[in-house]
Amino acid sequence: MCGIVGILNKKEDAIKMALDGLSSLEYRGYDSAGIAYQKDESIITVKTKGRVQKLKEKIDKNEKSLLAIAHTRWATHGEANDRNAHPHTIGDITIVHNGIIENEQELKEELKKYYTFQSDTDTEVACAFLDFYYQKTNSMIDTITKFMDTIKGSYAILILCKKEPDTIYAIKKDSPLIIAINEESKLIASDVPAILKYSKNYYVLEDMEWAKITKNDISFYQKSKKIEKEINTFEGSNLSSDKGCYPHYMLKEMMEEKESLEKTILPYLTNLDLLTDVSKYKKIEIVACGSAYHAGLIGKYLLEEKANIETHVELASEYRYKHLFLDSDSLVIFISQSGETADTLAALKKVKKQGIKTLGIINVKESSIARYVDDVLYTEAGCEIAVATTKAYVTQVALLSLLALKAAKKKKLLKEEEVKKILEEFYQLPRQVNDLLQEKESSKKIARMLTKEKDIFYLGRGLDSYVMMEGSLKLKEITYLHSECYSAGELKHGSISLIEKGSKIFIGATTELNDKTISNAKEVIARGGEIILITNDDTLLQKERKERILIPITSSFVSPILEVIPLQMIAYYLGCYLKRDIDKPRNLAKSVTVE
Ligand code: AGP
Ligand code: GLU
Repeated sequence: MCGIVGILNKKEDAIKMALDGLSSLEYRGYDSAGIAYQKDESIITVKTKGRVQKLKEKIDKNEKSLLAIAHTRWATHGEANDRNAHPHTIGDITIVHNGIIENEQELKEELKKYYTFQSDTDTEVACAFLDFYYQKTNSMIDTITKFMDTIKGSYAILILCKKEPDTIYAIKKDSPLIIAINEESKLIASDVPAILKYSKNYYVLEDMEWAKITKNDISFYQKSKKIEKEINTFEGSNLSSDKGCYPHYMLKEMMEEKESLEKTILPYLTNLDLLTDVSKYKKIEIVACGSAYHAGLIGKYLLEEKANIETHVELASEYRYKHLFLDSDSLVIFISQSGETADTLAALKKVKKQGIKTLGIINVKESSIARYVDDVLYTEAGCEIAVATTKAYVTQVALLSLLALKAAKKKKLLKEEEVKKILEEFYQLPRQVNDLLQEKESSKKIARMLTKEKDIFYLGRGLDSYVMMEGSLKLKEITYLHSECYSAGELKHGSISLIEKGSKIFIGATTELNDKTISNAKEVIARGGEIILITNDDTLLQKERKERILIPITSSFVSPILEVIPLQMIAYYLGCYLKRDIDKPRNLAKSVTVE
């Protein structure tokens, strides 16, 4: 969500570098773009609603500068239009901002006495605040300290001050910001892909820290106190933002599911001791958003059923405001692909304040959540660009499943032979995933059948219902069709009224509850519903089903991973048939860094 890039360069190509940086952050999701660069004594701003490409077209190719700040906006305050796009300028100050200023209303009331606002954004209020105190104090240290003491909410902000040329100030609270360096340049960005082309060495700003960046120097502060910071080296791999031969990142990333799973699970299959031991905890809480939350539900099922550990799964946006019942026997697991999701990060901070043990299941190695948790397990899915997660999600489920397996083994709830058999299933899993990915034609056929639908239903019981929830979310994200997932047994308590002749219903049936699920399937068939069955038992509903996709018979440790593959593919192909913006669906952002 939102991208920030700042460049200070020895050569005059800061504009090009900043725009390239914005392009590599496009995957985060945005609705408008803008840039401010230094030219002679002045700061020139260009901005537009829409894509970075449109911004590029608005800038003269021969324009040169040593310094630029650029932004992709994901609107929170005020609609997406040219006026509200960043950068914003008031007085001597120009800024780009990621985040939300929560006390903007009261500050605006006061600042209105001195400034006329041109936009509807909270960002312009922040800009006015900075100018107000800068004019008063003539000191950026005092101005930023006052800002940090007064402003409520989240921000990563780059500041240019007309009276201090050749300088960028970068300030941070609750939104990510990194500063990379090489011989030629200083690069500031909200995410690693924007800087990787130029440098692997970077500083990470923590909350309430800020930096003054000039051509030859960077100085770091924590509010008014000068501090030293250590430099990090990026060690990740597979960060290529190249689509290769694929028409969409989503398809490319699904096709990488085999490799992602291998990289994530193989080290643990050969040595389970490498994996965190969760068997000692009496209670586990799993906190996440969206698909990561769905992965957590599968984790809960396995931890409870197989390892006999009481487990709760919570939406981070709710958890951060609720009363917690945790003690020294509790573990809280945070799941996040990006490691920057604002709600998950806020929930983590809340748990850490209480001194409770935390474990992260994270994909992005340099992310805030990966750094703050006590212990971290990495999903090795590599860079995921498509907004709809696929390969990261399956690796999250795989790690949770292995955690449950190890705990069950430790507690002797599974016999040695059983553990061996399940490990063998894990060895087979990447290949089986790949086989399912090759069955494109059946997914395309089902997708074609759904192009005229308005509402699509997903049903299942237990584990199947959690997988179906993910299938339904994927469909909503990529196709913009309305879809709901229900526990199959709950349907008759109200939602069955929605079923009519021709309604299309996905049903997952891969568990020992299949008989019950099939009874519920018959209830909807009796009302004219048409069933698309995802199952490992081909005998089910042979006469009644409209379509079926068969997945291999395995234990519940791996079946949810197999079951989700056709659901991802059907959502993808349906999105293609409906000509949706597959990798950047409307209104969505890859990394949700606002509340
Ligand atoms: C998944 O397809 C979604 N884009 C979304 O639900 C996502 O899983 C959620 O926003 C959490 O993101 P995270 O894993 O980066 O924390
Ligand atoms: N809250 C700011 C706005 O609506 C910044 C949003 C963003 O993070 O892009 O302009």
